[in-house]
Amino acid sequence: MLKRLEGKVAFITGAAGGQGRAAAIVFAREGAKVAAVDVDAQGVDETIRLVKEAGGEAIAIHCDVSNEEQVKAAIAKTVEAFGKLNILYNNAGIAHRNIFITVEELDVEEWEKIQNVNLKGTYLVCKHGIPELVRAGGGSIINTASTAALINSPGGPSYSATKGAIISLTRHLAATYAKKGIRVNALAPGYVKTPMTKAMEEVFPDLDRVASEATPLGRGADPEEIANVALFLASDESSFVTGAVIVADGGLTIV
Ligand SMILES: NC(=O)c1ccc[n+]([C@@H]2O[C@H](COP(=O)([O-])OP(=O)(O)OC[C@H]3O[C@@H](n4cnc5c(N)ncnc54)[C@H](O)[C@@H]3O)[C@@H](O)[C@H]2O)c1
Repeated sequence: MLKRLEGKVAFITGAAGGQGRAAAIVFAREGAKVAAVDVDAQGVDETIRLVKEAGGEAIAIHCDVSNEEQVKAAIAKTVEAFGKLNILYNNAGIAHRNIFITVEELDVEEWEKIQNVNLKGTYLVCKHGIPELVRAGGGSIINTASTAALINSPGGPSYSATKGAIISLTRHLAATYAKKGIRVNALAPGYVKTPMTKAMEEVFPDLDRVASEATPLGRGADPEEIANVALFLASDESSFVTGAVIVADGGLTIV
């Protein structure tokens, strides 16, 4: 059977754990050559080990997505290793540890750090990755939003603002690059069980119970369930989908 990403090269940020690691494994299993990108060098090495164990091909790239020089070098390294670039998956993100924090309590450093990783990081990967997608004759960009962009679910001010802005940026990019054969979509997960949400439990130990109860399907997603949606958006199966916000939230936003 033909693999769904055969012949494609994917650049996945935040690939040291959670949804990014799951995507690296799923994309590689479907035939993509994967650049697994993260600030966490040890975590990303473990992702490479898991990809290889599953018979896939990947390289680890240590990179802070909020640093332009590092992003530029990471894109260059990917093209040097695999010869081209077809898919950008902007998955790296950080959140407030205290999801109930208010603007009054939030200091400027935390506001800016979250803006820099989530929003500026997405912009920088697009800035330096899009020329390679154009060179390859087109491609697919997946930007990670969140249900925190759509409803007032706990998420905190800077985090929610970045995710809303990522949807707007996605629409801008989709319109701008459609004629160049580049599709750009936002993926908005609901509650996903990852190291990010595990860390939030240190401040709010009831998170799993409360978030699961708020979700019509009655549970959080496993990272692979989101990676499978990203796989659809990355593949040619979504060839008529661009500028969309694909919600994968177990029904959270419909109740
Ligand atoms: N977990 C959820 O419930 C949930 C819900 C909606 C959206 N999201 C979004 O999904 C994405 C993945 O989150 P996750 O749940 O897998 O979290 P995670 O914390 O498990 O993974 C995020 C990864 O991003 C990396 N990262 C952080 N800062 C970075 C930087 N400056 N440069 C490069 N990499 C960096 C981390 O090292 C980590 O490996 C994020 O954008 C997050 O906002 C998560």
